Amino acid sequence: MNIASYSNSFGAENHSFLGARAALIHEVQRGLLKRPRSLVPWMLYDAEGSRLFERITALPEYYPTRTEREIFAESANEIVAAVCSRNPAPVRLLELGAGTAAKTGILLDALSRLRKRVVYIPVDVSPDALDAACDSIACLLPHVQLQPLVANYVTHPPRLGSFNGTTFAIYIGSSIGNFSPEEARTILRNLRSQLRAGDALLLGTDLVKDEATLLRAYDDRQGVTAAFNLNLLHRLNRELFANFDTTCFRHLARWNCAESRIEMHLESTRDQHVFIAGAQLGIHFEASETIHTENSYKFTHARIYTLLEDSGFCFQEVWTDRREWYAVTLARAT
Ligand SMILES: C[S@@+](CC[C@H](N)C(=O)[O-])C[C@H]1O[C@@H](n2cnc3c(N)ncnc32)[C@H](O)[C@@H]1O
Repeated sequence: MNIASYSNSFGAENHSFLGARAALIHEVQRGLLKRPRSLVPWMLYDAEGSRLFERITALPEYYPTRTEREIFAESANEIVAAVCSRNPAPVRLLELGAGTAAKTGILLDALSRLRKRVVYIPVDVSPDALDAACDSIACLLPHVQLQPLVANYVTHPPRLGSFNGTTFAIYIGSSIGNFSPEEARTILRNLRSQLRAGDALLLGTDLVKDEATLLRAYDDRQGVTAAFNLNLLHRLNRELFANFDTTCFRHLARWNCAESRIEMHLESTRDQHVFIAGAQLGIHFEASETIHTENSYKFTHARIYTLLEDSGFCFQEVWTDRREWYAVTLARAT
């Protein structure tokens, strides 16, 4: 089924094709003309990028998805009980960057056992991922009311309509790690502005660990992460009529210890000239020059608390796995 078949409570426009294209052109012009060159992570998620990300989540090296799912499988009842404990009212679950909602089903299932009326509002920039999310939740939990929203939560933070109950916001999958501390604060503050005091936020964050484990997770042996990263250039070829020769760029994953983040880059393997017709842009890449495409910040508990406090939330409870590799933190809007 298509997401257009599900209702939308916002009264807001769903991200239009034209809007998405204009945003793509704007980011290409902004990021590729400056040095060091960079692009923004949401650009990785067209239909093919979303499909490749799903493959990444099943890779042996990519522990974050598996670990977060284990925490949910073990503690979903406890998590939703903690969310609902203060209020018997209906609950709406808002998810930023929902993807295919593969893990969210565990939380919605637990929530449905506590509340008769559950509304689920998945937000994602990728319509294909949202289609898959809605189809799987509709099939698994037909009584959950779906209100999907195709939107870029960075450029167009979602505005929520009024709701007579608790809003339970979730931002999982380590997505907050794609943003600098300042950007992360802005995203959470925008989210906070849509919540009432006492509403809940569940934040999934990857924790600092040994460098070898981190590098393996972002540079797997099968090359799926490399294909995911290089798909960004294919996307520019497809959508903006660029002429990137993707065989002349390679995927790089680096650990930046000072910033506590994994960085993904695309490195030009030779001197080359690229023309991006749709953005009216010609760029010369020197050999070894890179385009910085994604960050994945790794957190300590102290940094999570500080981020939450700085964004208008207060810590309530945290769940981790036995290795302390991943944290799922529940906070309340203050
Ligand atoms: C790392 S994946 C996480 C997916 C899912 N939450 C999970 O835990 O597996 C990031 C998801 O957020 C979406 N996304 C990335 N940047 C976004 C943005 N600025 N606005 C809306 N969605 C975004 C992507 O399309 C993708 O589905």
